[in-house]
Amino acid sequence: MTWRRTIGTVVAVAALVAGCASGGMQSDSMSMEKKSLYDRLGGKPAITAVVDDFIGNVAGDARINKRFATADIPRLKMMLVDQICQASGGPCTYKGASMKDAHKGMKITDAEFNALVEDLVKSLDKFKVGALEKNDLLGALGGMKPDIVNQ
Ligand code: HEM
Repeated sequence: MTWRRTIGTVVAVAALVAGCASGGMQSDSMSMEKKSLYDRLGGKPAITAVVDDFIGNVAGDARINKRFATADIPRLKMMLVDQICQASGGPCTYKGASMKDAHKGMKITDAEFNALVEDLVKSLDKFKVGALEKNDLLGALGGMKPDIVNQ
Protein backbone atom coordinates (compact mmCIF):
# COMPACT_ATOMS: atom_id res chain seq x y z
CA MET A 1 0.00 0.00 0.00
CA THR A 2 2.85 2.41 -0.68
CA TRP A 3 0.75 4.50 -3.13
CA ARG A 4 -1.63 5.29 -0.31
CA ARG A 5 1.20 6.41 1.83
CA THR A 6 2.61 8.50 -1.02
CA ILE A 7 -0.74 10.18 -1.60
CA GLY A 8 -1.07 10.71 2.13
CA THR A 9 2.33 12.36 2.27
CA VAL A 10 1.59 14.57 -0.76
CA VAL A 11 -1.69 15.71 0.78
CA ALA A 12 -0.02 16.41 4.12
CA VAL A 13 2.81 18.41 2.52
CA ALA A 14 0.35 20.35 0.35
CA ALA A 15 -1.74 21.17 3.41
CA LEU A 16 1.36 22.33 5.27
CA VAL A 17 2.51 24.53 2.38
CA ALA A 18 -0.97 26.03 1.99
CA GLY A 19 -1.12 26.61 5.73
CA CYS A 20 2.19 28.44 5.77
CA ALA A 21 1.48 30.47 2.66
CA SER A 22 -2.01 31.72 3.44
CA GLY A 23 -2.80 30.87 7.04
CA GLY A 24 0.60 32.05 8.26
CA MET A 25 0.41 35.40 6.54
CA GLN A 26 -3.20 35.90 7.45
CA SER A 27 -2.75 35.18 11.12
CA ASP A 28 0.24 37.54 11.17
CA SER A 29 -1.65 40.50 9.79
CA MET A 30 -4.71 39.61 11.84
CA SER A 31 -2.75 39.49 15.07
CA MET A 32 -1.26 42.90 14.25
CA GLU A 33 -4.77 44.30 13.85
CA LYS A 34 -6.24 42.64 16.90
CA LYS A 35 -3.36 43.06 19.33
CA SER A 36 -4.21 45.47 22.12
CA LEU A 37 -2.06 48.54 22.73
CA TYR A 38 -1.06 46.81 25.98
CA ASP A 39 0.42 43.89 24.04
CA ARG A 40 2.00 46.14 21.44
CA LEU A 41 3.69 48.14 24.20
CA GLY A 42 5.20 44.90 25.54
CA GLY A 43 2.86 44.21 28.46
CA LYS A 44 3.35 45.01 32.13
CA PRO A 45 7.16 44.58 32.28
CA ALA A 46 7.66 47.13 29.49
CA ILE A 47 5.09 49.54 30.99
CA THR A 48 6.76 49.24 34.41
CA ALA A 49 10.20 49.96 32.92
CA VAL A 50 8.88 53.04 31.10
CA VAL A 51 7.07 54.36 34.21
CA ASP A 52 10.20 53.88 36.37
CA ASP A 53 12.30 55.83 33.89
CA PHE A 54 9.59 58.47 33.42
CA ILE A 55 9.31 59.16 37.17
CA GLY A 56 13.10 59.50 37.19
CA ASN A 57 12.78 62.17 34.48
CA VAL A 58 10.06 63.96 36.45
CA ALA A 59 12.25 63.93 39.58
CA GLY A 60 14.99 65.67 37.59
CA ASP A 61 12.68 68.14 35.88
CA ALA A 62 12.90 71.51 37.66
CA ARG A 63 9.73 72.68 35.87
CA ILE A 64 7.53 70.23 37.81
CA ASN A 65 9.48 68.23 40.40
CA LYS A 66 8.47 70.48 43.32
CA ARG A 67 4.89 69.34 42.70
CA PHE A 68 5.93 65.85 43.78
CA ALA A 69 7.92 66.89 46.88
CA THR A 70 5.54 65.15 49.28
CA ALA A 71 4.29 62.46 46.88
CA ASP A 72 4.29 58.77 47.71
CA ILE A 73 6.47 57.80 44.75
CA PRO A 74 6.23 53.98 45.02
CA ARG A 75 2.42 54.27 45.14
CA LEU A 76 2.36 56.78 42.28
CA LYS A 77 4.46 54.41 40.14
CA MET A 78 2.13 51.51 40.91
CA MET A 79 -0.94 53.60 40.16
CA LEU A 80 0.52 54.81 36.86
CA VAL A 81 1.43 51.28 35.78
CA ASP A 82 -2.08 50.03 36.55
CA GLN A 83 -3.67 53.03 34.90
CA ILE A 84 -1.65 52.69 31.69
CA CYS A 85 -2.12 48.90 31.74
CA GLN A 86 -5.90 49.27 32.00
CA ALA A 87 -6.16 52.20 29.57
CA SER A 88 -4.21 50.22 26.95
CA GLY A 89 -6.48 47.19 27.21
CA GLY A 90 -4.36 45.13 29.61
CA PRO A 91 -5.51 42.85 32.44
CA CYS A 92 -5.22 45.43 35.24
CA THR A 93 -7.70 47.38 37.29
CA TYR A 94 -6.75 50.92 38.26
CA LYS A 95 -7.84 51.40 41.85
CA GLY A 96 -6.58 54.93 42.44
CA ALA A 97 -8.44 58.21 42.57
CA SER A 98 -10.15 59.63 39.50
CA MET A 99 -7.96 62.10 37.62
CA LYS A 100 -10.27 64.90 38.75
CA ASP A 101 -9.99 63.92 42.43
CA ALA A 102 -6.24 63.15 42.29
CA HIS A 103 -5.39 66.61 40.94
CA LYS A 104 -8.13 68.65 42.62
CA GLY A 105 -6.95 72.02 43.94
CA MET A 106 -3.47 71.66 42.39
CA LYS A 107 -4.13 74.22 39.66
CA ILE A 108 -1.82 72.37 37.30
CA THR A 109 -1.05 74.52 34.26
CA ASP A 110 -0.94 73.60 30.59
CA ALA A 111 2.83 74.13 30.62
CA GLU A 112 3.22 71.71 33.55
CA PHE A 113 1.08 69.12 31.82
CA ASN A 114 3.17 69.47 28.66
CA ALA A 115 6.40 69.19 30.67
CA LEU A 116 5.20 65.91 32.17
CA VAL A 117 4.22 64.57 28.74
CA GLU A 118 7.67 65.58 27.45
CA ASP A 119 9.27 63.60 30.28
CA LEU A 120 7.15 60.60 29.32
CA VAL A 121 8.01 60.91 25.61
CA LYS A 122 11.73 60.89 26.54
CA SER A 123 11.22 57.52 28.24
CA LEU A 124 9.09 56.12 25.40
CA ASP A 125 11.85 57.12 22.96
CA LYS A 126 14.56 55.68 25.18
CA PHE A 127 12.73 52.33 25.23
CA LYS A 128 12.15 52.58 21.47
CA VAL A 129 8.36 52.40 21.69
CA GLY A 130 7.03 52.57 18.12
CA ALA A 131 5.45 55.72 16.70
CA LEU A 132 2.00 54.16 16.49
CA GLU A 133 2.07 52.91 20.07
CA LYS A 134 3.46 56.23 21.30
CA ASN A 135 0.68 58.06 19.50
CA ASP A 136 -2.04 55.75 20.86
CA LEU A 137 -0.77 56.05 24.43
CA LEU A 138 -0.36 59.82 24.29
CA GLY A 139 -3.84 60.04 22.80
CA ALA A 140 -5.28 58.08 25.73
CA LEU A 141 -3.45 60.27 28.27
CA GLY A 142 -4.32 63.46 26.37
CA GLY A 143 -7.97 62.58 26.90
CA MET A 144 -7.40 62.91 30.65
CA LYS A 145 -6.04 66.45 30.35
CA PRO A 146 -9.35 68.29 31.01
CA ASP A 147 -9.63 66.44 34.35
CA ILE A 148 -6.03 67.23 35.36
CA VAL A 149 -5.30 70.79 34.22
CA ASN A 150 -6.77 73.86 35.96
CA GLN A 151 -8.55 71.85 38.65
C1 HEM B 1 -1.50 62.50 31.69
C2 HEM B 1 -1.04 63.10 32.77
C3 HEM B 1 -1.18 62.57 34.17
C4 HEM B 1 -1.58 61.35 34.62
C5 HEM B 1 -2.00 60.13 33.80
C6 HEM B 1 -1.51 61.38 36.07
C7 HEM B 1 -1.83 60.32 36.89
C8 HEM B 1 -1.80 60.35 38.26
C9 HEM B 1 -2.16 59.25 39.12
C10 HEM B 1 -2.57 57.87 38.64
C11 HEM B 1 -2.02 59.66 40.39
C12 HEM B 1 -2.25 58.81 41.65
C13 HEM B 1 -3.65 58.89 42.16
C14 HEM B 1 -3.80 58.11 43.44
O1 HEM B 1 -2.83 58.01 44.20
O2 HEM B 1 -4.90 57.59 43.72
C15 HEM B 1 -1.58 61.03 40.35
C16 HEM B 1 -1.28 61.81 41.45
C17 HEM B 1 -0.61 63.00 41.39
N1 HEM B 1 -0.32 63.72 40.27
FE1 HEM B 1 -0.78 63.21 38.38
N2 HEM B 1 -1.09 62.61 36.46
C18 HEM B 1 -0.87 63.37 35.35
C19 HEM B 1 -0.43 64.66 35.30
C20 HEM B 1 0.09 65.34 36.38
C21 HEM B 1 0.78 66.61 36.31
C22 HEM B 1 1.01 67.43 35.03
C23 HEM B 1 1.17 66.91 37.57
C24 HEM B 1 1.95 68.10 38.08
C25 HEM B 1 2.87 68.72 37.38
C26 HEM B 1 0.71 65.85 38.45
C27 HEM B 1 0.88 65.80 39.81
C28 HEM B 1 0.39 64.83 40.63
C29 HEM B 1 0.59 64.82 42.07
C30 HEM B 1 1.34 65.85 42.89
C31 HEM B 1 -0.06 63.67 42.57
C32 HEM B 1 -0.19 63.22 44.03
C33 HEM B 1 0.90 62.24 44.37
C34 HEM B 1 0.90 61.89 45.87
O3 HEM B 1 0.58 62.77 46.68
O4 HEM B 1 1.25 60.76 46.22
N3 HEM B 1 0.05 64.92 37.68
N4 HEM B 1 -1.46 61.43 39.05
